[in-house]
Amino acid sequence: MSGQFSAEISKKEQISADIFRLTLVAPEIADKARAGQFVMLRAGAALDPLLSRPFSIHQRMADGRIQVLFKVFGEGTRRLANLEPGQVVGVVGPLGRGFSLQSGERICLVGGGMGIAPLFFLARELLRRAEPPEEIVVLLGARTAADLRQLAREFEMMGLHPRLATDDGTLGHGGLIPELLPLHLSGDKYQVYCCGPTPMMAAVASHCAARQWPCQVSLETMMACGISACLGCAVKTTTKTDGYAHVCKDGPVFAATDIVWPS
Ligand SMILES: Cc1cc2nc3c(=O)[nH]c(=O)nc-3n(C[C@H](O)[C@H](O)[C@H](O)COP(=O)(O)OP(=O)(O)OC[C@H]3O[C@@H](n4cnc5c(N)ncnc54)[C@H](O)[C@@H]3O)c2cc1C
Ligand code: FES
Repeated sequence: MSGQFSAEISKKEQISADIFRLTLVAPEIADKARAGQFVMLRAGAALDPLLSRPFSIHQRMADGRIQVLFKVFGEGTRRLANLEPGQVVGVVGPLGRGFSLQSGERICLVGGGMGIAPLFFLARELLRRAEPPEEIVVLLGARTAADLRQLAREFEMMGLHPRLATDDGTLGHGGLIPELLPLHLSGDKYQVYCCGPTPMMAAVASHCAARQWPCQVSLETMMACGISACLGCAVKTTTKTDGYAHVCKDGPVFAATDIVWPS
């Protein structure tokens, strides 16, 4: 069950010129959250509800705090980036269906851009399992080094060694993230968890489908309500009788094979 809360910002970090991380005191959400779920956030508890925006739960702390990691795009994210510790945000969550964790396998996490955000929570959940995976390969990509350097370092601090790609070649492989898959995954079967821009996820889904590897994708659509009331987040799937699923309720995480990818 999700709920609507006011959460105090306990910490604000600037990761790069336009990427920020907020730590929120939200014990009700932290208690229930699962990796891959999201929250609807708005800057100011009583301000314009039209400025609610969806963000993955980036990390969950044992002391009842959660984190969101976001990039400034427009008005909603600009307002959030202007907030300071001590101020309050309106938050609804945890929402949606998260990742389904499999045990004792070879795992690959693939994150592009802000799609990296939910992979922190997922990686920590995988690492603390009673039976952790045999191997976790982490593949991360971004436009440029500045967007990736600190996040990659934080994966290193978890004991993981991410392989990196940047569009402009300033860090790691110069090129697109899907190009990393054949370079770093051997012929064995992997369980792949992926979040990022749709073309990237479509390419990863296709790579996995060709090898019959299970792949879960976390979709990022536009969302007005986040609670299945506006129909704004429909995606075409192979599983629903009317052909469409709601990302906010049926997702954001889906089996990659259930999605009808744009060609
Ligand atoms: C389930 C889910 C989880 C998300 N998690 C994160 C996260 O962890 N970190 C993060 O930075 N972002 C995340 N997003 C995307 C985030 O919600 C948008 O960046 C945000 O809503 C933009 O709001 P804005 O008011 O700043 O921009 P707007 O003024 O609403 O839009 C500015 C521009 O960005 C484009 N845009 C807005 N939303 C998206 C989107 N989802 N995908 C592509 N383009 C978009 C618009 O078309 C427009 O051109 C997530 C989205 C979903 C659906
Ligand atoms: S965002 Fe309104 S129905 Fe999904």
